[in-house]
Amino acid sequence: MTEPTPDTWRRVDAYLTETLVGHDPDLERAVADQHAAGLPAIEVAPVNGKLLHLLARMSGARRVLEIGTLGAYSTIWMARGIPSDGRVITIEAEPENARIARLNLDRAGVGDKVDILLGRAADVLPTLAGSDAFDMVFIDADKESNTIYLDWAARLGRSGTVVVVDNIGRGGEVADPAAMRPDVIGTQRGLEMLGRDPRFDATALQTLDLKGYDGVAIALIV
Ligand code: DHB
Ligand code: MG
Repeated sequence: MTEPTPDTWRRVDAYLTETLVGHDPDLERAVADQHAAGLPAIEVAPVNGKLLHLLARMSGARRVLEIGTLGAYSTIWMARGIPSDGRVITIEAEPENARIARLNLDRAGVGDKVDILLGRAADVLPTLAGSDAFDMVFIDADKESNTIYLDWAARLGRSGTVVVVDNIGRGGEVADPAAMRPDVIGTQRGLEMLGRDPRFDATALQTLDLKGYDGVAIALIV
């Protein structure tokens, strides 16, 4: 038993990805085009994309809300996990990201299941009030706003909705009570809300994958 080094966990991540996720030309092309277009390489790792896909299927989700589209890599994974008459509503603040996302979604054959709403999520989310409840919510945008996004997830979901929050480990900084970085503080506030707010029941897992040391929170709206 050795302590994991970056070399170990990248090797294991590659092994798990090869063994359990495999290769998909549309997903790999989406990532390649997103990188070529200069978008940051912060899309979820393939093993986490598959986790989102499986959670959508396990929960029988028909309506999925995503906060933070980037190039739609995670969006494609989730859209493939819902029925053909299901819908993913994904919110993106950057027009160039949304443009790349639309190309990737259409090429992957899921474009007709996905609406990209352009704007800052804090402005767009209130416009969704009154729509049918979401069955799954994936929060993966500016970490400073995680409590706002969780509050909207609770309002726009229903009892039984699955809520996933990306990047809850932040290289270990999340456990630092003296953290100064706004993204770390926002992540901490979000986790504290998940632990305390009676609308949620939650856990979180630390992750080591090709993106490094981070984590994912998974919550149920009670
Ligand atoms: C960052 C954001 C993400 O959503 C992610 O998965 C990794 C990094 C970031 O802003 O640094
Ligand atoms: Mg993320």
